[in-house]
Amino acid sequence: MKTSVEIRNTFLDFFREQGHRVVKSSSLVPGDDPTLLFTNAGMNQFKEVFLGLEQRDYRRATTCQKCMRVSGKHNDLDTVGRTPLHHTFFEMLGNFSFGDYFKREAVRFAWDLCTEVYGLNPRRLHATVFEDDDEAYGLWRDFIGVPRERVYRLGEADNFWAMGDTGPCGPCAELHYDLGVSPLDHQDCKLGCECGRYVEIWNLVFMQFNRDSQGRTPALPSPSIDTGMGLERITAILQGVTSNYDTDLFQPLIQKAERLTASTYGNDEQTDVSLRILADHGRACAFLIGDGVIPDNEGRGYVLRKILRRATRHGQLLGKEEPFLFTLATLAADLMSEPYPDLQPQREYLARVVRHEEEKFQATLNHGMGLFEEIVARVRESESGTLPGEDLFRLYDTYGFPLDLARDLAQERSLEIDEQGFFAEMEKQRQRARASWKGAGKTLQPVHQELVGQGYATEFTGYEQLEAVSGSVLALVRNQRRVPHLGPGEEGEVVLDRSPFYAEAGGQVGDQGTLETDSVQFRILDTYTPAQGLRLSRVRVQQGELSSGDAVRSSVDRPRRQATARNHTSTHLMHAALRRILGVHVKQAGSLVAPDRLRFDFTHFRSVRPEELSQVEDLVNQEIRRDIAVDTRVRSLDQALEEGATALFGEKYDSQVRVVAIPDFSMELCGGTHVGRTGEIGLFKITSEGSVSAGVRRIEAVTGEAAMSRYSRMDAIVSGLSRRLKTPMTHLEETIRKSLEDLKQAQKQVDALQLKLAGQKSLDTLDRSRRVRGIRVVAEEVADLDRSSLRQLADQLKNRLQSGVVVLGTPIDGKVSLIAMVSDDLTDRIQAHHLIRKLARLLGGGGGGRPEMAEAGGRDVSRLGEALEQTYRLVEESLN
Ligand code: ALA
Repeated sequence: MKTSVEIRNTFLDFFREQGHRVVKSSSLVPGDDPTLLFTNAGMNQFKEVFLGLEQRDYRRATTCQKCMRVSGKHNDLDTVGRTPLHHTFFEMLGNFSFGDYFKREAVRFAWDLCTEVYGLNPRRLHATVFEDDDEAYGLWRDFIGVPRERVYRLGEADNFWAMGDTGPCGPCAELHYDLGVSPLDHQDCKLGCECGRYVEIWNLVFMQFNRDSQGRTPALPSPSIDTGMGLERITAILQGVTSNYDTDLFQPLIQKAERLTASTYGNDEQTDVSLRILADHGRACAFLIGDGVIPDNEGRGYVLRKILRRATRHGQLLGKEEPFLFTLATLAADLMSEPYPDLQPQREYLARVVRHEEEKFQATLNHGMGLFEEIVARVRESESGTLPGEDLFRLYDTYGFPLDLARDLAQERSLEIDEQGFFAEMEKQRQRARASWKGAGKTLQPVHQELVGQGYATEFTGYEQLEAVSGSVLALVRNQRRVPHLGPGEEGEVVLDRSPFYAEAGGQVGDQGTLETDSVQFRILDTYTPAQGLRLSRVRVQQGELSSGDAVRSSVDRPRRQATARNHTSTHLMHAALRRILGVHVKQAGSLVAPDRLRFDFTHFRSVRPEELSQVEDLVNQEIRRDIAVDTRVRSLDQALEEGATALFGEKYDSQVRVVAIPDFSMELCGGTHVGRTGEIGLFKITSEGSVSAGVRRIEAVTGEAAMSRYSRMDAIVSGLSRRLKTPMTHLEETIRKSLEDLKQAQKQVDALQLKLAGQKSLDTLDRSRRVRGIRVVAEEVADLDRSSLRQLADQLKNRLQSGVVVLGTPIDGKVSLIAMVSDDLTDRIQAHHLIRKLARLLGGGGGGRPEMAEAGGRDVSRLGEALEQTYRLVEESLN
């Protein structure tokens, strides 16, 4: 039997020998493509190459690509576990030609690999083509020699492939394998039957068009090839089993799930579905989290959360209540350690993220049960007998309370559920999500679009040359319109043919500086690129005039640039330090590199402990003191990744990339500007650490001058304190701690004295007590007592009265505090909590308590006396 590892390698080796570059799988999180939630095909990373927007130094490629099909055009989520063939996460083997070979070679390669290398029986292979693709038909029939009865012409639904609603697309040809038996015991079924007898193993797409948002399909620059073979499917066939779940890719996971849930695979369909879902979802969780996704309420994180919760739910169906999925996720990482070595070091992180989410879901489910019962009670009251879809959807959406659970529970209570309403709400939410997701794409101002269209390009000199860079003005923009000049008092955008100004990118702010003609100097306020290749600087004209065509000399504000560079290099140092101290699961999730500070967001499951922060600080400062030369080079993306350069998650790179290395410490793909030697940074100091969102932390820090001035400021504060407290700096902490302690003691004494004073007054108070129907009632205002003293005083009075009612009120901080006490012998006739509620209402407040003691607050201090006076009447009322 061939292992899946061998099958994967055989494919890549075959195409390597046919002149294909073996390219690494891209991340499940597509780089810079807002039309895609997850990578869903091998061709995604080559989309721009197909469109002719990007060149590579190879024209044939082969990959084994990590894919997810859980949203958008290609969505298999609901079938997972119920068929032998579908998955959320899967691997797609593929070969690609970018304007190199076309149909003939593609068909030949596929056939030869299947029959000669993998050794499939040619008589079991069936071929398909797009209905009017005579060329492809002829290739299968005549060139390869597949008999007529095993070549099929199929329509657009089957044999025209598109990446999404827009993007590269084209007709396709497929190979299907006949297992010879139907897993569902169908007799005489044909290609196209869903029973699983005919397995679609390979899709060869003849990429020819680019579908746009209006549905038009202009031709691609050159006809290309994109193919996809499901690794899980070919593995099942070569391992002689009829289900992907019976291969070595899934069996260890299923067996583990059996042990964890004390159930057996292969006896009962319901159990099997659950076990398959657990195996599939455990794998998907490992790969998603490994690629930097974190459970969340929207976007990618929401899909992960949904998958995780679904798995948890199936665990429960098998009787498993405690968290367990995390062990399946780590097992998936172990099983995949050879083809995906970066999963292994993230094992512990994976486990934590999954486990934490499982625990949280348990808690939400428990909470959801309470809310479910509330809905049931409401429905019972209204006698409608149907649980509203809207409520159930809210439960599902906010608390992750699954519909099937709601269905089961409703059935047990003989109630119906409004499923239609539920799905209508879900559709509404989907629309909202889609709207907000699409919104993530940038829109370009028409004037910028025009400039891009006219192909203005700026040569950037600002890695080496910062000052007196001569160039000329290509275009000027003011108020979103092209203008020939900018006059005094005007501000606008300038496009230069050569420019030293760094345009905001990768978190680093844009450069400022000056622009000079022979007679006038202008200020550059900011620089940015609204679209690839278009570099704009914002310019302010104070005097003179700046015109299109002017010859200018540009200079970057060097101190500002240098301060920014110190922060940028420090960001790289800190990123590397965090990975060493916290673990390699740390991934950059955003950054800001400004002249005065830096901010770095990264994935981590809890707050960074103070001792970890100081370790990070120490490590970075150590690297600064090593004073190493920062090494910047341009090389191919593949080579850079091979050498271990860190690429940012969700970022898209060209085939040639800039690599910034601090030898023996950090290596990152980065287009930013850096110091020449780490020593220039001087000093690095973390100023804060906190949470940004679930699983994402933020550290802010300062370097160089900013670190020094922070130090000076703090030093001034500390010296000032030391003078005022007349204590040497080293004793400050102790002195302040002691002073605070003394203060607390003193406050306690004051409280005690006040109580004593009040107690003495209370004797007078007792004298003023009145009798209401024979019961002694005290209702008095007292001054300057906190709540607990008020309580003690009321208690004293009650004890002295032995039998009676005490009500005290005191103004505290502009509000009123009230207390009422009733001696035990009277509580069946008069209750403190009823009394106090009525009094509180008079004062615009509320409160409550027990029959013998109750407290309340009120807002209207001015009516306290009046309210207390009412007490006697209220007591009388109660006694009536
Ligand atoms: N891109 C094609 C597919 O995903 C090969 O089926």
